[in-house]
Amino acid sequence: MNSIHYTQTEIVSQHTIARDTWQVRIRAPEMAQTVRPGQFFMVRLAQCNDPLIGRALALYDLHRDSHGAPSDISLVYLTKGKFTQALSRCKPGAVLDVWGPLGNAFSVEPCKHLVMVAGGVGITPMLSLAGAALGSEVFGDAGSTGAFASKVSLCYGARTAAYFAGLDAFTSRGVEVHLATEDGSLGHRGRVTEVLNHLLDTSCEGVRIACCGPEPMMEGVCEIAHQRGVPCEVSLETPMACGIGICFTCVAKIRQADGSWDYRRTCMEGPVFSSQQVVW
Ligand SMILES: Cc1cc2nc3c(=O)[nH]c(=O)nc-3n(C[C@H](O)[C@H](O)[C@H](O)COP(=O)(O)OP(=O)(O)OC[C@H]3O[C@@H](n4cnc5c(N)ncnc54)[C@H](O)[C@@H]3O)c2cc1C
Ligand code: FES
Repeated sequence: MNSIHYTQTEIVSQHTIARDTWQVRIRAPEMAQTVRPGQFFMVRLAQCNDPLIGRALALYDLHRDSHGAPSDISLVYLTKGKFTQALSRCKPGAVLDVWGPLGNAFSVEPCKHLVMVAGGVGITPMLSLAGAALGSEVFGDAGSTGAFASKVSLCYGARTAAYFAGLDAFTSRGVEVHLATEDGSLGHRGRVTEVLNHLLDTSCEGVRIACCGPEPMMEGVCEIAHQRGVPCEVSLETPMACGIGICFTCVAKIRQADGSWDYRRTCMEGPVFSSQQVVW
């Protein structure tokens, strides 16, 4: 496991990238050097006790300084409640408490075709994963493995087109993008699972799925993966308080080797689990 760093750091920049969706960049060289796609950070507003408890935000992107060394990380969030609304009002220079990188990461096992499936703000961990899979970005100590997929596709679902975040970033990194909206404003009208099924009809050979989004969507993706015999990982977003294994607020039902299930901490043993492990 990587060592966990704690820092008080300033916001370098912050801007909207979709409806109610913000990208915040923070200076955190020690974290940027070790973080891997799928890992997350706990974030609080410094010197502010409301909200008191930190919130989990996944790595979106990594930035390098003029010497090529990892220096900053970007996080992407949807404004929902107390914390995310307060964060969206912060200006560059505002100070955040950040600890991480936390949790495990998506696997870097070689495959022919990595299919990433994202619903809503579940898009966040996918950009760095795509960069690692295609070998265009190097992360932490897993960086030396280089590219691990020949092709990367993204099946991305949202309520309406205005919520799609970072589409240009994905296409410019060589990702084939397939969209679905509930209202038909862009891409397929309907669910992202229908887009996934359509893609897998073409071929399942050498495919591996990585998924993040609302729980019913992830459950649907796991079902499809199971039916088609495709390996699949999901990143769970259970609410968290500490992020470091102490409070047990983040537990999920995880299947054990003997077929029974037990609670596991999403912040320590996850957030990424094999689809076969999760009891929905
Ligand atoms: C490992 C991990 C990574 C995450 N990465 C991201 C990310 O990259 N970007 C992002 O926007 N969010 C992410 N989340 C979810 C994020 O932590 C919550 O959205 C955040 O806590 C909301 O905080 P808030 O104070 O704004 O809302 P709150 O006031 O805490 O809650 C507002 C509403 O959202 C609901 N809610 C709170 N937390 C969650 C949750 N985890 N899942 C579903 N509903 C929730 C509440 O029940 C309430 O209805 C992640 C969660 C985990 C566990
Ligand atoms: S968030 Fe505290 S144990 Fe996981």
